[in-house]
Amino acid sequence: MPVPTIAGNWKMNTTVHEATRLATGVRDGLRMSSGVEIVLCPPFIALQPVRDAVQGSPIKVGAQNMHFEDSGAYTGEVGPLMLQGLCEYVVLGHSERRQLFGETDDQVNRKVKAAFSHGLRPILCVGETLEHREAGRAGAVVAHQLRDALSGVHDISGLLVAYEPVWAIGTGQAATPEIAAEIMGGTVLASLTALFGQAADDVPLLYGGSVNPENVGSYLRLGAIHGALVGGASLDANQFLQIIQATAEAKL
Ligand code: 13P
Repeated sequence: MPVPTIAGNWKMNTTVHEATRLATGVRDGLRMSSGVEIVLCPPFIALQPVRDAVQGSPIKVGAQNMHFEDSGAYTGEVGPLMLQGLCEYVVLGHSERRQLFGETDDQVNRKVKAAFSHGLRPILCVGETLEHREAGRAGAVVAHQLRDALSGVHDISGLLVAYEPVWAIGTGQAATPEIAAEIMGGTVLASLTALFGQAADDVPLLYGGSVNPENVGSYLRLGAIHGALVGGASLDANQFLQIIQATAEAKL
């Protein structure tokens, strides 16, 4: 049974000072026995301060992106050797990276392999656009993204998959639980099982897209959904804590 997981993707928000304050707020508000894996993904420059702020608590830290090479002439990039020891998780293939920065399935695949080989847990993001969905291609697109991202990977221990339909991100138009469950319990699980057999059963599947304290329970009551990747609502410690609490109530 996958571990219920709530990850906060802060995106390009928070100064170092604000990030430290937000992480401290989540840490201080946490009930120690919640049993939910909690991951904070601040901007790169706040990884160390956030790590310091949550030290001694069960909260884990993740990066939002990563280059696939260890080091080299890649101005502005951050590689896996720099993240090792600084965080446990890394969000890869987020639709904003794909759409705004031209990240390809091949690049996502290289990043996923680099994460595994450096002991970082990838939170692999997949999801269709509205255009794909209206054309009846949502499942096919997600299956394709998964297959490409995991090509050449043999051991998926440590993997998490986040299903984030592009049309639901930052729009307030969350996918219905039925849509999320259809893709996650159907397409995603079937694709992972076809590729990796029983190991697929241990992969936490997170829903992302306009998750808030009010709607999170409706996803987590469904067996196919083990957690959430939260954007906007993770920037408010109280809302994020309520999401964690609702997850504990639904899953534990
Ligand atoms: P919102 O929760 O703001 O819709 O963002 C979702 C997301 O992209 C998380 O990675």
